[in-house]
Amino acid sequence: PRLWLIVPAAGIGQRMGAEQPKQYLRIDERFILDITLSRLMDSAPFAGCMVPLHPADRWWPDTEARSDSRIQTCTGGSERACSVLAALRALAEQSDDQDWVLVHDAARPCVHTADLANLIDSVYEHPVGGLLASPVADTLKRAGAGELPEVESTLDRRGLWRALTPQMFRYRLLVDALEAALDAGVEVTDESSAVEFSGNMPVLVEGRPDNIKITVPADLALANFILGQF
Ligand code: CTP
Ligand code: MG
Repeated sequence: PRLWLIVPAAGIGQRMGAEQPKQYLRIDERFILDITLSRLMDSAPFAGCMVPLHPADRWWPDTEARSDSRIQTCTGGSERACSVLAALRALAEQSDDQDWVLVHDAARPCVHTADLANLIDSVYEHPVGGLLASPVADTLKRAGAGELPEVESTLDRRGLWRALTPQMFRYRLLVDALEAALDAGVEVTDESSAVEFSGNMPVLVEGRPDNIKITVPADLALANFILGQF
C-alpha cells in the first residue's frame, strides 16, 4: 500500500484571534503550514499530499508548498472532519482502498520525524491503523453538574492518553467511518473517534508530548521554542 498525506488547513483560528488563520502565522519567517508540510513531506515516501483550504483562503498562493508538485489543494468544510472527508474524496481517483492515509493538523509544526517514522513502522501491517498519542501527565477531575462545579471524582489517569497527530488509517475504512459518524451526528474531533465509532480499534503509538497543536497565542511562543530545540 502507498502512503498519502492530508493536512487540514481550512480552519479560521478563532481561539488564536489573529488577523489571519494561525496556519499562516510565521515562525522564523516561514508560514506554520510550510514548516508542517515540509517537515512531513521530506521525512516519508508519500505518494502525494492533499491540503483542504478554506473557500475564502487568500494566503496559499504565498506559500512555499504551492510550488511543490506533490502537494494538491481542495476546498475544505465547516468542521475539521468535513475538511478531511473533502480531501479524502479529492484523492479518490488516485488512491486504493488499502492505501494508508496520514492526517496531520496544519497547526502542529513541531512533529518529530522520528515519531512519524515510528507511527508508519508500527501501523503498516495493521488492518485498521493507529495514531500518535502521549500518556496523560495531568491529574484529571470530573466536574459535577452544579452552577459552581464541584469535583465529582478524580479520574484514574493510568491508561489515559492524549491523542496527537498524525493519525494513520486505511483509505476506505477512514472514508466510510467519517461518513457514518457525520451522518450519525456524533462529535468527531479526530479521525480515530470516527474509526472507533465504526467499531474498529486503532493502535496507540507513543509520540513526543511536545508535538503540540498551536491553539492560543501562548502556544506560538512555545512552538517557537520547541522548534529551536531541533
Ligand atoms: N481545520 C480544517 N477545517 C475546519 C476546521 C479546522 O481544516 N473546518 C483544521 C485547522 O486548520 C487546523 C486543524 O484542523 O489545522 C485543527 O483544528 P483547530 O486547531 O481547531 O483549528 P481552527 O479550527 O482553525 O481553530 P479554532 O477552533 O480556534 O477556530
Ligand atoms: Mg477548530
